[in-house]
Amino acid sequence: MNHGLQIQENYSLRNYNTFNIDVSAARFVELISDDDIKKFVSQVKVLQPIYILGGGSNVLFLNDFRGLVVSIATKRIQKIDETESSIDLECAAGETWNDVVSFCVKNNYYGIENLVLIPGTVGAAPIQNIGAYGVEIKDILINVEGFDLDSKKLLTFTNKECEFNYRSSIFKTKLNGKFLITKVRVRLSKEKKYQLNYRALNEKFGNQNIESISIQDVANYIKQIRLEKLPDHTKLGNAGSFFKNPEIDIEHLEELKKQFKGIVYFAAATGNYKIAAGWLIEECGFKGKRIGNVSCYEKQALVIVNHGGATGNEIKEYAEKIQSAVKDKFRISLIPEVNII
Ligand code: FAD
Ligand code: EPU
Repeated sequence: MNHGLQIQENYSLRNYNTFNIDVSAARFVELISDDDIKKFVSQVKVLQPIYILGGGSNVLFLNDFRGLVVSIATKRIQKIDETESSIDLECAAGETWNDVVSFCVKNNYYGIENLVLIPGTVGAAPIQNIGAYGVEIKDILINVEGFDLDSKKLLTFTNKECEFNYRSSIFKTKLNGKFLITKVRVRLSKEKKYQLNYRALNEKFGNQNIESISIQDVANYIKQIRLEKLPDHTKLGNAGSFFKNPEIDIEHLEELKKQFKGIVYFAAATGNYKIAAGWLIEECGFKGKRIGNVSCYEKQALVIVNHGGATGNEIKEYAEKIQSAVKDKFRISLIPEVNII
């Protein structure tokens, strides 16, 4: 059947996932224009099963995908509104997230700079409400546009309707796999203001006059921290934090504090406490511990790395070992942040 789309067969996904897992898709299509997206949506029922892929930096493939992998590659960053104090940008889903951040940093549009160097695409960013250094995309997002793949209708979700939470949104819960994000609109400030509450940022900039700090200073400092702590996925396959930081209640925390003096925790918005999963994993002896081709990164235990040639299942088994050790030692269940397919 001619779908009007360039569908390829037996397509290697090795360069399409940052874990560098050697799997393939039975069929593969890259959507590079709005027109491609419309063609795809109009035929989505007959093209099933499908999997939507951005930059592949938050996925772990266990097997070859037997259906159609849809790679979103539409590019555009456009100013859509401007006032004296703010600027609204509309960004296409396939745009590289860090290119949007760089564009804003270059033009002194404030609010997004803490999210510098997060790999992946604009369209995936709202899915898990990307966050780093005290900022989440929910803090700057106006709305998300895309196609409901059941009704084929073009819908817009306001920030509130996205049901954002820590590493979660409606697109990762109720609408998981059912919604194709095509555009994300964000509002940045033209007035200088920074989010510097994160400890490392507070230590660096806390005593400085805001006028003396440039947006480039903040972005560059975060880049420096990230490059020191996180592995370069082009050299060492990984998908960033493998698990979410877990949340526990005060009673559980008090018990753990008696036993583990150095436990790393901070108050969560819910009234509970977030525990640094990296600390839990390190305490269980996994930091740098290699089993076959897999280990936790030696500088950040929350990142699982593929030293080359690991299969998705090897990585999953390693992750399960971590989960059971952390459960036994701390009575805490670690939940993967990475999407396991
Ligand atoms: P993919 O991995 O391709 O997809 C992720 C999910 O989104 C999948 O379920 C996919 O089906 C879905 N999806 C993708 N595009 C669309 C679309 N257009 N419409 C509908 N569904 C879609 N994350 C953070 O939050 N903070 C960090 O600091 C951070 N640091 C990282 C550092 C490294 C070294 C790496 C490798 C990853 C890091 N991540 C971080 C995780 C990752 O970068 C983000 O989750 C990113 O948003 C994933 O984008 P992607 O385009 O690669 O998504
Ligand atoms: N820690 C350890 N050992 C480790 C790693 C961390 O003890 O091996 C402890 C340290 O005390 C450290 C603390 O944990 O100070 C926090 O570590 P870090 O600042 O590296 O942050 P994180 O909680 O491990 C989270 C996000 C990252 C994000 C950073 C910065 C999650 C799951 N991860 O990591 O996001 O970049 O904060 O804001 O929330 C991602 O989602 O893929 C990701 C990389």
